[in-house]
Formats: sequence, structure tokens, C-alpha cells
Amino acid sequence: MAPPALGLDPWNLLGLFFFQVLLLLLPPLTAGGGGQGPVPRVRYNAGDPRRALGFFQQSGLRDFDTLLLSGDGNTLYVGAREAILALAIQDPGVPRLKNMIPWPASERKKRECALKKKSNETQCFNFIRVLVSFNATHLYACGTFAFSPACTFIELRDSYLLPILEEKVMEGKGQSPFDPAHNHTAVLVDGMLYSGTMNNFLGSEPILMRTLGSQPVLKTDTFLPWLHADASFVAAIPSTQVVYFFFEETASEFDFFEKLRTSRVAQVCKNDVGGEKLLQRKWTTFLKAQLLCAQPGQLPFNIIRHAVLLPAGSSTGPRIYAVFTSQWQVGGTRSSAVCAFSLSDIENVFKGKYKELNKETSRWTTYRGVETNPRPGSCSVGPSSDKVLTFMKDHFLMDGQVVETPLLVKSGVEYTQLAVETAQDLDGHSHVVMYLGTSTGSLHKAVVSRDNRAYLVEEIQLFTDPEPVRNLQLAPSQGAVFVGFSGGVQRVPRANCSVYETCVDCVLARDPHCAWNPESRVCCLLSTPNLKHWKQDMERGNPEWACAKGPMGRSHRPQSRPQIIKEVLVVPNSILELPCPHLSALASYRWSHGTGKIPEASSAVYNGSLLLLPQDGVGGLYQCIATENGFSYPVVSYWVDSQDQPLAMDPELAGIPRERVQVPLTRVGGGAAMAAQRSYWPHFLVVTILLALVLSGALIILLTAPLGALRARGKVQGCGTLPSGDKAPLSRQPCLEPQKESRTSATNVDADNNHLGTDTA
Ligand SMILES: *[C@@H]1O[C@H](CO)[C@@H](O)[C@H](O)[C@H]1NC(C)=O
Ligand SMILES: *[C@@H]1O[C@H](CO)[C@@H](O)[C@H](O)[C@H]1NC(C)=O
Ligand SMILES: *[C@@H]1O[C@H](CO)[C@@H](O)[C@H](O)[C@H]1NC(C)=O
Ligand SMILES: *[C@@H]1O[C@H](CO)[C@@H](O)[C@H](O)[C@H]1NC(C)=O
Ligand SMILES: *[C@@H]1O[C@H](CO)[C@@H](O)[C@H](O)[C@H]1NC(C)=O
Repeated sequence: MAPPALGLDPWNLLGLFFFQVLLLLLPPLTAGGGGQGPVPRVRYNAGDPRRALGFFQQSGLRDFDTLLLSGDGNTLYVGAREAILALAIQDPGVPRLKNMIPWPASERKKRECALKKKSNETQCFNFIRVLVSFNATHLYACGTFAFSPACTFIELRDSYLLPILEEKVMEGKGQSPFDPAHNHTAVLVDGMLYSGTMNNFLGSEPILMRTLGSQPVLKTDTFLPWLHADASFVAAIPSTQVVYFFFEETASEFDFFEKLRTSRVAQVCKNDVGGEKLLQRKWTTFLKAQLLCAQPGQLPFNIIRHAVLLPAGSSTGPRIYAVFTSQWQVGGTRSSAVCAFSLSDIENVFKGKYKELNKETSRWTTYRGVETNPRPGSCSVGPSSDKVLTFMKDHFLMDGQVVETPLLVKSGVEYTQLAVETAQDLDGHSHVVMYLGTSTGSLHKAVVSRDNRAYLVEEIQLFTDPEPVRNLQLAPSQGAVFVGFSGGVQRVPRANCSVYETCVDCVLARDPHCAWNPESRVCCLLSTPNLKHWKQDMERGNPEWACAKGPMGRSHRPQSRPQIIKEVLVVPNSILELPCPHLSALASYRWSHGTGKIPEASSAVYNGSLLLLPQDGVGGLYQCIATENGFSYPVVSYWVDSQDQPLAMDPELAGIPRERVQVPLTRVGGGAAMAAQRSYWPHFLVVTILLALVLSGALIILLTAPLGALRARGKVQGCGTLPSGDKAPLSRQPCLEPQKESRTSATNVDADNNHLGTDTA
């Protein structure tokens, strides 16, 4: 049974017709949106074996909100709801529980909390909010304690946690928020805890506070308008002389038609001891400035979500990396941006002019009065004069702004957390790598290129159900990022270089952690930067250059020789599906057929696969060619042949190993039965009968009503909209009477226009 011969054979034509009908019945593909901005080169769904994560969970526990890495990097302390855990992380894979201590809110506090109309199911618990390493033997922890913040020291023994004694629990107002929904930040510096949070039950009184240690407890003055009542703190980062706080609040210095949120950086001096007569037990060095992450001429990304410090490198000073979202939704989606602010820019703004509020016009203007010495708000030693402190009460807002343009802008994504490190490439250059957690539970690995733009190496969906990433903790010595979320802790290895199976893929990935080892022919994790013969090209990502000595040959031909050819035998009466794995979202893919053209009428590309209707002349070499970064290479090569009349092999392909493969056959309606080899003749018969019905119907109309004939022609012209499988080259497909095909759910029929609609939503 040879495939039908080409020509005007009616069977052959009907075969073609049936093929086209099949294509129309295929479910439309929805393009995986993702908005503007860089596209992750590779995406992994939750549970993808190529990117195995170590998932720690503990029955009965939830809200793994706070993460702390031990000094030696081998233990991860985790603050969950009403418990604190110590996890051993030095072995790869799932973190192992060392021990766990309960720290529930007391029954009395829980009762009071419920009486105050808070939920005893979701809110009246002890949510751990602060977890810091106090000294070699103690951690310091604070929690919401059923809307009554509490703190305690936790003793460590061999990095195991000792139980919390009830009498050691102290009041924690100003250190932990009351409400678990409120944002907060805290950092321990020189034995003192600097915290920024809400200081009351209602959540209307933000506070910046310093506690613990030998110095006096200091707070922001509630009666001064230093912080707007809705201030929301996201990070606290110490520098040499000052501690910076990052937060967002409603801006009062702009006249604006709506409540304008703005991001801020505030500073307080570490050596501040408060005033003597004025500003007793209050900060005397509190200053704040606007932090602006914006593209020129566009609405700013005005809401800061998280910030981290990247210490000084060999060529750059210390920088603050921060993720922002916008108050405004453009086109129905939120977008995010990452900006990097140099600490010296921030320092300069705090050394600049002040703003002051003109009491008569209620407008903020630049302060142009005389400057006193020492400068108000500077970390000068010695107590400040009353005159300086009076000045400080009103001059806490800086005139200048800390402005940066984003390294990365991504729409349709809300980044909630980030972690940043540098990675050395093969040549010893360092690259900034950012791990960005989203509000829907994925992690983007972004690399900042030479021209200060970030590209996305990969996106990993961390949890099955979309939910925000609550915390990220980099563990450099473990080569992993730990992610806290409602259901547990995920360990995400920095990279899995073995997913890049060829030198080309390894180099195109431009992941500073991965390089091609030409000896073992494996893409390997780069551990020491002196493996000169390994292959990597961080700057250009050019495999032609980097993989020159590999299987590619030093050729300048746009297409390289395949490494293996998959042999496919034509099965009579069925449509072949030649799959092509799309390894990279940045590549464009096309199919080639030997040196000639793909037989158009009897083939189509659907979802990346080539569908082939076996006919005479259809055999030969089929290659799926990817083009990325100006470089083309075959992803997969098929030799399609018939059992009865084998084709002579192209001499150019001699010497390339071959492998006989089975490919999926006819596939209609997106069912899962891929491997099932289905003959199309039963379908064919059904379609033929339907066609006969349609034709006779049309004949009757033609004979009975000339007007109907006109309308029928109108319909015929109106038809021809394709399923949105964009790639299908079906511009010349026959028009069909759609009512008869409307059996498939995925094909919409618009009754008025009588054409096949498409579902692109
Ligand atoms: C890395 O990828 C390879 C190849 O896809 C896979 O076999 C391996 O299990 C993966 N390893 C991890 C840790 O994800
Ligand atoms: C919460 O309170 C309600 C009524 O006061 C009670 O029925 C329920 O069991 C409580 N739930 C928990 C988790 O304590
Ligand atoms: C650590 O701090 C705790 C709590 O203040 C104290 O009891 C302990 O002695 C300190 N340990 C060391 C080694 O300083
Ligand atoms: C906490 O921060 C998030 C992100 O900025 C924000 O959406 C949320 O409203 C904040 N919560 C409060 C209570 O301010
Ligand atoms: C498209 O191809 C991908 C991968 O090859 C597959 O997972 C997906 O199910 C296909 N979609 C349809 C609608 O066939």
C-alpha cells in the first residue's frame, strides 16, 4: 500500500481536503502572554524534572515568612506561624529539619485578639516577623503574637534551637507589627535592632525605632509629620555611619489630583543618642528623600517592594538593588522595574538642600536659609544645639531626589522580592545576577549585561498554585536561593547547566554560572574561573565563536550539520507529526526540507510541530532550524522515508549517526492520546458524507432561490479565518461550510457572519 500518487487522482485530492479540514479542527493555540520587557529564555513549570527544587514542608505549619542564614551558611532558620525551625542545608536536595520550637501566642492574647474582632482562624496567631542573629549563642525573634507584638532571645546549641521560656518573652511594640498584613523591616547592627513598622493596633502610626544594645532607645516623633500614616517599610540596610530605611508612603510634597504614592529612602545616624531638652529619646538625624525609578518621559515605578545591598565590587561602589511596581496599571497589567542606586548618590542627596513647608501656602519649597555647622542631620559627634534640633523638626525632607533608570522593566509581572549576587565568568569578569520573586510564585534569574540592561536566563514556577514569594535568602556557599512561602521553603539551585545539552545551547543561554566543557561534552557549573579551555561567551552569546572547535566546525554557513538524524517511516493513510522542541523562547523556528521547499499543500506547522500528509515526493530531510542571536542551527533533523521505495540518502549527510524513531500520527482535537496511531479513513468517511450533504444542500438552495445563491457566495467569501495557530501556512485552504464542523468545541461559529471565529483570548 504505497501512498497515493500525486496528480488529479480524486482520492489524493480528497486526502488533501481532509488534511485541511483536520487543520481547521485543531484547537487554536493561545500565545503565552508575558507582556513587554525581556522574555525568559527558558520557562520551567512547577515540578519540571529539569529544574528539580528541594521542597521542605512540615505538616501543621504554614506561613514560612522569615528566613535567616547561620554564620557558617549550613543552617537556615525559618520563622513560620507559631514556630521557629532550624533546617540543615549543607546537603543538596530537600532541606532537613534539625529541630523546631513552638512559639504560639498565649491563650489570653488569642482571646483578646478575637474579642477585638480579629479572626481566630487567620490573624490571631504569632506570625514571626523578626529573626536575627544576636550574638554567637543567641538569636533574637519577634512576632505579631495575636495583635500584641512580642520578642524573645532564643538560645542556640550547635545551631539547634533551645525552647523559648515563657518568662523570657518581652513586649515587642515597634519591632514587630501588630497585623501580619503590615509590612515591616528590621536589621541588627552592632548589637542594636533598627526596625521600621506600625506601632499601633490600627496600623496608623508608623515608627522607626532602635532598641537593644547599650545606646538609648530612639524613635521617630509621632507628633511630627516625618512619616505619612500609611508608610510601609520594605528594607533596612546599614552603611558605615548611617542605617538606611526603604519604604513607600503617600507623598505630601506634590500637588496631584490623586493620592500619589512615592518611594523613599530615610537615614538615621548610628551614633544618634537623641536630644537633651528637645527631641528626647527621639531621632535627631532623621532625613528622608524621594527614590525615583523611572524611564525618561514615562510614569515612574513609584512603589518600592524590596531592596537589598550589593557590596562594592572591584570596579563599582556599593549599590542598592530595588524592585518597584507602579501605582498605575497600563493596559490592565501592572509592571515592575529593577533599579540600582549607588550609595554615593544617596549620600549626596542627603548632603544637599532641604525642603520646607511654607505654612501659608501649604506648599513644599526649597529651603534657602543659612546653613548651620555642624550640618543638621549629619552624623557629627557631640550633642546638637537646640537651634539645630528645632530646625530638624521641620527640615526632614531633602530637596534632591535619588534618580535612576531601570535595569529591567517587565510588564504583566509584579516582583515582590529580590536577591542579588555577582558571578565570575570564565574570563574572570563579574556579572550581577538577580533572582526576582513574583507575586504569582515564579522566580526570574536575571543577568545584568555590560550595557546595564538585564536579560532573563530562565523563569521557574516554584509552586503549583500561584501565590506570592514572601522571602528570598541567598545561600552562596550552598549555591542556592531559598524561597519562603505559605506552604514551606523551596531550595532553588542557582543553575542546572545540564539542561543545556549542546555547546550552542550552553553558550546561547549566557548564564554566567554555566560553561561548556569540550572534553566531557557537557554544560557544567562553573566553580573555578580558571578553566580556560571551557567555552562561554557572556558578552555576545555567540556560539559560532565559542563552539568553534566543537561539532560546529569553523564554518560560516548559517546552518550547521546535524549531530544525529532521526529516521521516520511513512505510515500509509496517516499524518506524520514531526515534533520540534522549542528550547529557547528567544529563538525563531522554521522548518526546512532538504534544499527545496516544504510541500505546502500537504504540510502545516502546528504548535511548532510539522504535520505531513504522506504523498509522493514528500520524503527526504526535514530540519527544524532555530535562529537566535543571529545564529542558526538545526534543533532536530528527520529523514522521512517510505518502506517500499526507500530514497537515496543525500551524500552530504553521510557519516551522521541515525536513529529510527516513531513519531506521533494523526492527532485531532488536542487529546492526550499522542502515541496512538490513528488512521484517518473513518474521519475521512464522515467528512465525505458531510460534504456530500453540504453540497446537495447548496444545490437545493441554488435551484430554489437565486437570492440564496448570492448569499451563499457571500458566505464563501467571508470564510477563511484561521484558527490562530499563527504558524499554519494555510492561506489557500478551501472554504468550508462551518456549521458542519462546529462539533468541535474549540472552533467557534459566528452565526451572522458564517465564518470560523478564533479564540485568542
Ligand atoms: C538537571 O537537568 C538534567 C537534564 O534535563 C536532569 O536530568 C537533572 O535531573 C536536572 N537536575 C536538577 C538538580 O535539576
Ligand atoms: C474561632 O472562634 C469560633 C467561635 O468563637 C469557634 O467556633 C472556632 O472553633 C474558633 N476557631 C479556632 C481555630 O479556634
Ligand atoms: C548573647 O546575648 C544573650 C542575651 O543578651 C546573653 O545572655 C549571652 O550571654 C550573650 N552571649 C555572648 C557569647 O555574648
Ligand atoms: C505591604 O506592601 C505591599 C507591597 O508594597 C502592599 O501591597 C501592601 O498594601 C502593604 N501593606 C500595608 C498594610 O501597607
Ligand atoms: C504544544 O507543544 C507543547 C510542547 O511540545 C505541548 O506541551 C503542548 O501540549 C502542545 N499544545 C497543543 C495544544 O497541542
